Amino acid sequence: MTYFFILGNNPTLSIAEIVCVLSAKIKKQNIKVISQDVFIVEFNKKIDISLLQKQLGGTIKIGKIISTRNIDDIKRVEQSLVKQILLLFPLNVKKVFFGFSIYGGRVDIKALALAIKEKLKQQGIASRWVVSKESVLSSVVVQKNKLLEQGAEFTLFIKKDKVLLGKTLTCQEFEKYSFYDFSRPYRAIEKGMMPPKLAKMMINLSGTDSASVFLDPFCGSGTILQQAILMGYENVIGVDVDEHAVSRTQKNLEWLTKNEELRIKNEELSVKIQKCDVKNLDKKIPPQSVDTIITEPYLGPLKIRNLKAEIKILSDLYINAFKSFKKVLKPDGRVVIIFPVFSVSFPSSSHLPLSSLGRSPRDGRTKNKLHFLLILDTLKKIGWQTQIPLPQYLLDNPVIKTTSRRSIIYSRPDQKILREILIFTRT
Ligand SMILES: C[S@@+](CC[C@H](N)C(=O)[O-])C[C@H]1O[C@@H](n2cnc3c(N)ncnc32)[C@H](O)[C@@H]1O
Repeated sequence: MTYFFILGNNPTLSIAEIVCVLSAKIKKQNIKVISQDVFIVEFNKKIDISLLQKQLGGTIKIGKIISTRNIDDIKRVEQSLVKQILLLFPLNVKKVFFGFSIYGGRVDIKALALAIKEKLKQQGIASRWVVSKESVLSSVVVQKNKLLEQGAEFTLFIKKDKVLLGKTLTCQEFEKYSFYDFSRPYRAIEKGMMPPKLAKMMINLSGTDSASVFLDPFCGSGTILQQAILMGYENVIGVDVDEHAVSRTQKNLEWLTKNEELRIKNEELSVKIQKCDVKNLDKKIPPQSVDTIITEPYLGPLKIRNLKAEIKILSDLYINAFKSFKKVLKPDGRVVIIFPVFSVSFPSSSHLPLSSLGRSPRDGRTKNKLHFLLILDTLKKIGWQTQIPLPQYLLDNPVIKTTSRRSIIYSRPDQKILREILIFTRT
């Protein structure tokens, strides 16, 4: 069975997450398509797609590939798609809804949709063709129009001279994500909220299972801990130096665990939230007792006056944190962490050197230089090494964007502080 994964806005991270979650099930020879939008893989074993969709934070839709055709005779392709599509609709329905998402090229979708409507009409089935301004339907459109329950979303992937026809099976539950994000008592908007989907991806990148002891030593308002609990982790610890953050996290997690939608029984769940400076973790947490640390530490002030001084302060904070992690983490434990990357623009006429990740001019007048925390050598000396969560054959693919220091950048356009995601293990 060949499945497609429609990727979120950071394809590298989305693919890394899929590979980590499915690990042994993905082989180089079974990968059919990798693009900015989609990852198509053939599996030898059956996969529980709805479970997988719930597990993944960076995949918007999952579906199966039904057929592959040559595109040279588009008329014949359309006819065969009509036939295929009719076979896919649920039986004994009076009205169906359908829509298309097209990736990698153009197809005359109107002709195709009208042909399907006509064929359905001949069989006594009314239908509605769901359209959107974009060439792809968002997961919101798919779910709001009940395409998966009372019809179908078809995906066409155009790849050189071939067209792959797919049917969407599941979509990311956007309503659940917003419910858990917006309905909780505290959201720290002013501090640059961590997106819950990113928290989930980071947890998945750790490759640890839910039986492990989980720590966020900069827990803020508890976004990462919340995701960990939702993903079934039963032993979670949160630490923050700020007592308000501690109480916000406590209230958010209390709200979460009292929510009836949460499947974990409360008796099984151990949540400890404590006020503590990261330097002193070992005063609150037993030595070598933690399996996984997933965290977004303090990323610096929103307005930076002296970048050099700020980078120094942050470098010290992060180095001290890693010294502390070494005391409480098990020897085979993992750290998935965000480092800040500062994007500083300067006039393109000036002769400042661009880093390897420097961006091209945005408006022809400015260029951006990225400033990283240059502490990896120090961390190596104290026993930490970075890991990249992707096999070599994927690293060679042009869609996959990693830095030379084996990290992945997560950012939105024009952000001044970018997030660099790094995975560490002990040397
Ligand atoms: C970016 S926020 C974390 C957001 C959090 N990941 C979340 O999901 O809500 C950073 C947090 O680090 C905390 N912090 C800063 N310095 C610290 C230190 N030395 N030890 C522990 N926590 C610290 C701040 O109080 C703040 O709540």
